[in-house]
Amino acid sequence: MTAQETTTQPAGKPVGVAVLGMGTVGTEVVRLLRENADDFTHRIGGPVELRGIAVSDLGKDRPGIDRALLTDDALSLVNRDDVDIVVEVIGGIDYPRELILAALNAGKSVVTANKALVAAHADALSEAADNAGVDLYFEAAVAAAIPVVGMLRRSLAGDRIERIFGIVNGTTNFILDAMTSTGATYEDALAEATRLGYAEADPTADVEGHDAASKAAILASLGFHTRVNFDDVYCEGITRITAEDIDAATKVGYTIKLLAICEKITGDDGEEQVTARVHPTLIPSSHPLASVSKSYNAIYVDAEAAGSLMFYGNGAGGDPTASAVLGDLVGAARNKVHGGRAPGDSTYANLAVADFGDVPTRYHIDMLVNDRTGVLADIATRFSAKGISLRTVRQEEQERHSHARLIVVTHQAREADLRDMVAELEASEDVQKVSSVIRLDG
Ligand code: NDP
Ligand code: HSE
Repeated sequence: MTAQETTTQPAGKPVGVAVLGMGTVGTEVVRLLRENADDFTHRIGGPVELRGIAVSDLGKDRPGIDRALLTDDALSLVNRDDVDIVVEVIGGIDYPRELILAALNAGKSVVTANKALVAAHADALSEAADNAGVDLYFEAAVAAAIPVVGMLRRSLAGDRIERIFGIVNGTTNFILDAMTSTGATYEDALAEATRLGYAEADPTADVEGHDAASKAAILASLGFHTRVNFDDVYCEGITRITAEDIDAATKVGYTIKLLAICEKITGDDGEEQVTARVHPTLIPSSHPLASVSKSYNAIYVDAEAAGSLMFYGNGAGGDPTASAVLGDLVGAARNKVHGGRAPGDSTYANLAVADFGDVPTRYHIDMLVNDRTGVLADIATRFSAKGISLRTVRQEEQERHSHARLIVVTHQAREADLRDMVAELEASEDVQKVSSVIRLDG
């Protein structure tokens, strides 16, 4: 079969579905698939049948599930002749990659919620789907219930995207929100996010920003028609954000959020480049993103013709993610029944990924300096010598008169110059301590 051809089901033959994984997401996918079977038949134009569910532990209690459906041999399930669509909700990279490639190579469409895999191996997966003429859907991989992937792939396919930014990780938003609004500790908030099913199997992926970086890579690839992989995304998590940082931000009208920021910039050669980054960011508390609470996500898309669009909704958890998975499943099943394919990858623009050092950013620097005459002027001169202009400088006297607290907010400057500046401040005899450095946006 060539890349252009697609196969359709014989009339009346049910579409066979295998679900790989029955944890937080898989459990809800299976529940809704069974409960709403009649609706799915109407929406698809033919019935779907659940052929099997792959799990790791066959002994686990799974109320209401026919044990005959369960297997711990996912690859054999994928390869069964009566399976037409594979839903992967296991997580991880190497094993699901093997399973998904096996499915695609065998002419089966795939629906996955696995952002880590898509961000790391998009080219290989997309090539396999194209070669087999089948669908690869991954709406749930970014911001769970928010249909941002379909919106970029379809609704905004006729526009030019300039910037995509927002909150794309529910766990870290839940933690930062709890620390800000209730004074919860980082550890307690993370434990609660894990209990509620928001966190990844290894929550390091959430708190170190890796999960958001995978999502940023996917969004940038879709929005800029350029392959951006996980390794192209600059990534800092929230593990160094302290209660003091949050307090200090609140006092001056800012809120700390973990943002993913994907944008086009112009390189020194005048050519367009793309950049994607994830880091804790101070935003004015009046900014709509500041009021995004709990595990909610919100994403802004700035497009040339459409202007600024904002998408908001449930960004994590079993039900919201299952909604996105099942939307994809309906699409893939419809294509099996009626023919046609989902929009594939589009990376024709092939823009260069900018070096993060060249990206314009803004810093909020909180430091303790020697309380001596002229220190403020000296520090301002250092910034000026590096070509970094200051937006605000605030000095607070401390109880011990030997030092003062200095809070500096810069205008935009090259990230590399700002970083050098912080290193210079840290080495300066006048600076006792750089207490925190947080980027600023909005
Ligand atoms: P869980 O850890 O809750 O579930 C993983 C499932 O995979 C379990 O059922 C587990 O089996 C099964 N599994 C693990 N190893 C194997 C194996 N070798 N063979 C067969 N089955 C296996 O993960 P989630 O449901 O939270 O997440 C699944 C995917 O969805 C991930 O890619 C995640 O990034 C993504 N996602 C998750 C969201 C969320 O809010 N949780 C939101 C959006 C995306 P067993 O039950 O026996 O342990
Ligand atoms: N762990 C992820 C999050 C799940 O907290 O956002 C949704 O992708």
